[in-house]
Amino acid sequence: MALRFLGVMGFLCWAVGAMAQDVRPLIIAHRGASAVAPENTAAAYRLAWEMNSDAAEVDVYLTKDKKVVCLHDATLKRTTGVDRPIAEMTWDEVRVLDAGSWKGERWTGEPVPLLEEVLALTPEGKGFFLEIKHSPGIVPYIAEILAASPRRKQVTIIGFEFETMVEAHAAMPDVPILWLIGSSKNDDGTFQPIDPANVRKALDAGFAGINVSWRGVTPELVEACREADTELFVWTVNDPEEARRLVAMGAAGITTDVPDVMLRELRGAE
Ligand code: G3P
Ligand code: CA
Repeated sequence: MALRFLGVMGFLCWAVGAMAQDVRPLIIAHRGASAVAPENTAAAYRLAWEMNSDAAEVDVYLTKDKKVVCLHDATLKRTTGVDRPIAEMTWDEVRVLDAGSWKGERWTGEPVPLLEEVLALTPEGKGFFLEIKHSPGIVPYIAEILAASPRRKQVTIIGFEFETMVEAHAAMPDVPILWLIGSSKNDDGTFQPIDPANVRKALDAGFAGINVSWRGVTPELVEACREADTELFVWTVNDPEEARRLVAMGAAGITTDVPDVMLRELRGAE
């Protein structure tokens, strides 16, 4: 896997495209600047770039007529009010929906965008974390879009489903993959630690590394990343104190709903 030969610093540069320096921590705008603007819409990505985020994260699903759209849930209910599965809707049905007003009147009329529309907004030197949500058969359509995009080198693919990540890696071997791993909640409200063995599992599959729920991070997990010479990326951290703690432990990238706050608090941006 070409990425392994780039080493730690190389991956940080790769993760944000043409960025020339080793920036720590990378600040990744979760679903765009989603604390302010409606998640996964063009408005959220424009704002994330205005805030000077290092990268932005997007969730994608496939419509019935095989368009790749930016959406977090399997149905459109939460963000448009239409209680139908995205897999059963055509693009013509989806494109007219209002995915903005649930977030506030000023966003009324913001549509559900296509992946290629949002990808095209990514400035040079910035990264694009593309999360493949559960959507059978989506990988070839993503591969087609990335093949036609001048932004391809700025993309990192992420996803929870191991087999889908294996499929994505086979289809797009030059695009780095980070395997997403969550952390289950115990009965007492604490969260389960993420098994450090997952680091080796990801690397053996040819992935660049792991991107995990911050709640499951332990010193053992950080050490496993260090030993394997791979960076640790964490989501979704909105408290600067928590982010500082994770960075001090060794996290290289922080996915957050508040990139402006994190850039100011962790990197001293104006
Ligand atoms: O960036 C990874 C993170 O977005 C995974 O969780 O539910 O927000 O897609 P979710
Ligand atoms: Ca996501």
